[in-house]
Amino acid sequence: MDEFERRGIGVVSGRDACGRALRSPGLTSDPGGGSPSVLLRDGDGHTRVRGVLREVIAGLEPLPVSVRAGIEAVVGGLPSSFDLVRDFARPVAGSVTAAALGVDLDDVFLDHLEVTTANLDVFGGTDRAGQASAFRLAVQLSRAPAGPGGLTALRTAHADGRLDDDELVLNSVVLAHAAYENSLNFLACAGLELAASPATWSVRELVTSICPARYVLRHGPAGPLAISLADGLPFGLGRHACPGSGVALAEGEIALTALAKRLAGGCRVTDVRWKRHPVFHGLSRAVVTLS
Ligand code: HEM
Repeated sequence: MDEFERRGIGVVSGRDACGRALRSPGLTSDPGGGSPSVLLRDGDGHTRVRGVLREVIAGLEPLPVSVRAGIEAVVGGLPSSFDLVRDFARPVAGSVTAAALGVDLDDVFLDHLEVTTANLDVFGGTDRAGQASAFRLAVQLSRAPAGPGGLTALRTAHADGRLDDDELVLNSVVLAHAAYENSLNFLACAGLELAASPATWSVRELVTSICPARYVLRHGPAGPLAISLADGLPFGLGRHACPGSGVALAEGEIALTALAKRLAGGCRVTDVRWKRHPVFHGLSRAVVTLS
């Protein structure tokens, strides 16, 4: 909260008030400056770019069998002591992100994607490391050989005149980041909850209570507003509501079902460390040792 005050950002909380704010035509995601990012614009341009991204994401609904098998192999291969972030959440979220783009993603790519958070961050527009990482990923994706999948679909949309040059380059990174960051944080936090009680859980209830994206930013006549998602709106609402929520829930269901089986014999959790970020809620480390 102090972070918001310090930056002159008002806060909206409570489910009804947040729902109204997210649906309000008087509040926009566009901070000005003409960003090509789907997240930072409204109106016809937003609808057009979002339509293309929605088509790409639809390619993962239902999650392809190979992605499901990959997730189960990651969890099945966890050793008797593992880090919920590095060994569980990261390879799972990384595999779904790779499937969304239709390219292989290595550890260096994921490292840069994690640093990019600060750049897409509502507060961190001046973060140099985040901007350098985002730029690097944009260059890498623009050169990546395109097999079947998301990147090819984005390039086809560009060739058909549905995305301009800047929209193609930037929204490839935005899609990668959107598919990765919140899922990474959700999966690790959910893993921590399952370690405490692996028997009864529901992926929808977990995502609602964990709420990995705590706020979204909007701009109105009275200045910027941080709208809380913590009162039951983990995927947001309105024009920008998460178009990947179905994928995120399917990914969570598969990964957490497999993890719960591994944890069923009991475990101990040590070295729990949290990220310190005003918007993205997640763990940086939590070591699970199976009994
Ligand atoms: C637990 C996992 C996830 C959570 C909690 C989450 C949450 C959100 C939220 C709250 C927004 C709205 C941002 C705003 O209103 O400004 C959003 C947008 C978005 N998400 Fe997700 N998301 C998750 C996973 C995913 C996945 C797996 C994908 C893709 C496969 C994805 C793709 C997107 C995209 C493209 C947008 C931008 C939509 C727009 O601006 O119109 N998300 N997400």
